[in-house]
Amino acid sequence: MSYVLGLDASTQSFSGLVIDVDQGVVVAEASVNFGKRLPEYGAPAGYFRGGAEGEVHANPRMWLDGLELLLADLGDLCDFSKVRAISGAGQQHGSVYLNRSWFDQLGALSTRDSLSAQLAGVFSRETSPIWMDVSTSDECREIATTVGGDSVVCSKSGSIAIERFTGPQIRRFYKACPAAYEETARIHLISSFLCSVLTGVDAPIDTGDGAGMNLVNIETWDWDDALCEATAPEIIEKLPEVKKGDTVVGDLCSFFTEKFGFSAGVPVVVFTGDNPSSLVGMGASERGKVVISLGTSDTFFAAMTEVVSDPQGFGHVFGNPSGGSMSLQCFANGSLAREAVKEKFNYTWDQFTQALEETSSGNKGDLMVPFFGPEISPRIDLPEPILNGSAEFENWEDGPAAVRACVEGQVINLKLRSDWMRLKPDSILLTGGASENDAIARIVADVFQTKVQRLMTSSSVSLGAALRAAKMCLERPYADLEAVFCKPTEVDVIEPDTSTQSLYQNLAVRFREVLEDQKSA
Ligand code: XUL
Repeated sequence: MSYVLGLDASTQSFSGLVIDVDQGVVVAEASVNFGKRLPEYGAPAGYFRGGAEGEVHANPRMWLDGLELLLADLGDLCDFSKVRAISGAGQQHGSVYLNRSWFDQLGALSTRDSLSAQLAGVFSRETSPIWMDVSTSDECREIATTVGGDSVVCSKSGSIAIERFTGPQIRRFYKACPAAYEETARIHLISSFLCSVLTGVDAPIDTGDGAGMNLVNIETWDWDDALCEATAPEIIEKLPEVKKGDTVVGDLCSFFTEKFGFSAGVPVVVFTGDNPSSLVGMGASERGKVVISLGTSDTFFAAMTEVVSDPQGFGHVFGNPSGGSMSLQCFANGSLAREAVKEKFNYTWDQFTQALEETSSGNKGDLMVPFFGPEISPRIDLPEPILNGSAEFENWEDGPAAVRACVEGQVINLKLRSDWMRLKPDSILLTGGASENDAIARIVADVFQTKVQRLMTSSSVSLGAALRAAKMCLERPYADLEAVFCKPTEVDVIEPDTSTQSLYQNLAVRFREVLEDQKSA
């Protein structure tokens, strides 16, 4: 029996699944919610906000504890000795800062103590900025100015200088804490940090996650000298290598074989970012399909047919773990915005769904720009969401209309911000927590006027990691793996209702106008 383990270190939880590639089944699946299981880190949703400048950090030791809890849970559900390959993915852009002792400690992990206790002394910065951090506008400007403007940053790295991207974050750290920066011997992404811990060797960064740093050149797929120099001194020495997604980093180290019962010699494939991993897990690493992932952040991504960049400057080009490139647009107001509306009316999720069902397409003109916190697509920090419509709606007195306006506003914004990718997909694959909701899927189908499908699994990030490991280490072709593990659920394909086309087109025009008015006010 050939089991493969896929891991997903996301914002709010650490999840994983084990698949049996011979039988074509998922044999175990588990998830550890950081807020619930590790309350001692004071991060109910996996992160904490600091200061007025939009810093959002998390404690990297929390991810280590999360990994151990997850493996204990998964190990109760299946026999780890049958696992033949492992890979994983992490929330993108977040960075981990390590001092010189990291290299020795990593190779000397013992089962006598937890990972977080043994590695407590390796951090040159106690906390890690994560993708929600928007504190680096100055640094973005400085990097862009040094290399010759945003268009140069974009043509080199696939994105303009972006606040949450790792390069600007590193620069902020270097400016604020030069001594601690100096003491830093290695800077990892969350994905490469965890891969290092699993293998006991200092792991490379893959091209999928690496492209989210404003430091990797998307033509050479290696560190870009000019971007590195503009970011911080001696940064290249502090960064690991960049490698393609098919790289085997090493074998699982003895800490895990001894503590959790894995066999010796299990290969670990380089980790990637959660979105590139999801592209594989959705069976969308070839062209023609678009993925919308509804999670803490909502993301829209696809394998690229032609390499174009976003003229608005909010979109990104990343490495596709299966080769070539992928485009991605990320929206910060994903599930947190849906949750905010739900909480405002004290609804349960069932009542939220009911509200969508009892209201109609276009919401009788009640429109919301549903940004409850700083948004990154487009980049804007509204004091509160904009409500435009009936007096009752604008006063937050009409719960059902608010729910529909929130979801319609989110999907219209997804459409407006992804037009630059020039994709003509045959279908949209919907994933993430909210994707199971038929009423939300219907809005996606109608706004995009494209068929929407869901897959059997909603864990596309960890599935993508497992499929990558199976392809690289067990030589299973993606086509065979996708046919089994990435099957759309046939029953509930949602076809677009063509009668709503012009209604949503008009609503999109109004959405754009309302937002423009706000910006110029
Ligand atoms: C992508 C992004 C988020 C994170 C967290 O650019 O910032 O999607 O990867 O999921």
